[in-house]
Amino acid sequence: MAEIGVGLVGYKFMGRAHSNAYRQLPRFFDVDPAPRMAAICGRDEAGVREAADTLGWESYETDYRELIARDDVGLVDVVTPGNTHREIVLAALEAGKHVICEKPLANTLAEAKEMVTAARESGTVNTVCFNYRRAPAVQLAKKLVDEGRLGTIRHWRATYLQDFIMDSQFPLIWRLKKELAGSGALGDIGAHIIDLSQFLLGGISEVVGMMETFVKERPLEEGGAETGEVTVDDAAAFLARFESGAVGTFEATRFAAGRRNKNAFEINGSKGSVAFDLERMNELEVFFVDDAADVQGFRTVNVTGPEHPYAGAWWPPGHIIGYEHTFVHTMKDLMYGIKTGRSPAPDFEDAYRCQAVLDAVERSAGGGGWTRPEYGGI
Ligand SMILES: NC(=O)c1ccc[n+]([C@@H]2O[C@H](COP(=O)([O-])OP(=O)(O)OC[C@H]3O[C@@H](n4cnc5c(N)ncnc54)[C@H](O)[C@@H]3O)[C@@H](O)[C@H]2O)c1
Repeated sequence: MAEIGVGLVGYKFMGRAHSNAYRQLPRFFDVDPAPRMAAICGRDEAGVREAADTLGWESYETDYRELIARDDVGLVDVVTPGNTHREIVLAALEAGKHVICEKPLANTLAEAKEMVTAARESGTVNTVCFNYRRAPAVQLAKKLVDEGRLGTIRHWRATYLQDFIMDSQFPLIWRLKKELAGSGALGDIGAHIIDLSQFLLGGISEVVGMMETFVKERPLEEGGAETGEVTVDDAAAFLARFESGAVGTFEATRFAAGRRNKNAFEINGSKGSVAFDLERMNELEVFFVDDAADVQGFRTVNVTGPEHPYAGAWWPPGHIIGYEHTFVHTMKDLMYGIKTGRSPAPDFEDAYRCQAVLDAVERSAGGGGWTRPEYGGI
């Protein structure tokens, strides 16, 4: 079987998730090429050495340029904070490597544009890890929309709610600094529901939004009494119009007490509705207007049977899968993309359209009123 050497840059949260995906992928899916976990990269030698051992990588590098230069690395996987994506991705594309980059693609629309242009010029395969598209229940929602079984879509209603920074003493990590993260709740988790909406309903034409920072100073990560300024949003909300005529609401916050990772959406069409909640990710709530009145109501579909994408490769129906499987599915489609030379969606252009919406929401929240995403830049 053909193999492709992977070089992973970053080894913490997403580093673990992506490493697990490469380890599991060839054991459950028949992939060609199969990923070979060639090298992992991090700046701290002791840390990256330990990560290589724990996560199953053959070797490590302490400089991403050395990783990219290796002949045995054909695919570069970028799981570092947003401020580093552009530099690492451009270097990888320049070296003719395939690239998978974590979301959001960049910290600004201008950076995202450069990355799209470089990806086109390199001619290699690229994708962005909006992994929730690949939950089987989300795929079922997509199928019902595309087959017209929900009729004309009127409403999109999405929330991405977390609560991990509610404590005002929670430290000033990179996610709370604009120069590192680009934005706060908006880009970190709001980006996922924007991507899902564009996957399921198509393009967003106009937005009007607001952003708020509740805790404006936080203790520095290094410890001690010193504090620093929070320069991103703690919460963001916006209304949207879709090109299709549907309307949408979006809310992203890390201050929703008790909501640990509630990535949830509902779609209402003229013939029915669907509702998804990541914390119950094996299920899709489905309602059809045409059901007999005496039994009409939302049904809960357990989306684990072999008739659903990806599901058949795992366990018998009803034997549920989890968060980590969405990354395995992402890598499966990436391997197929490398085999066929076609970038799997969401590719850099799709991620640019998400970035354009992030950018429009920020401009709107800054006093712009109804604002149109600038898709024309690419
Ligand atoms: N798809 C998802 O569901 C999801 C979830 C969480 C995070 N993310 C995205 O993944 C990316 C990383 O987030 P995370 O949660 O893993 O962050 P993290 O803080 O857990 O890990 C970041 C890693 O990047 C390394 N790093 C930072 N700068 C570097 C550099 N210049 N060179 C090499 N390594 C460097 C750090 O040492 C660390 O290993 C971000 O883009 C984030 O938005 C995606």
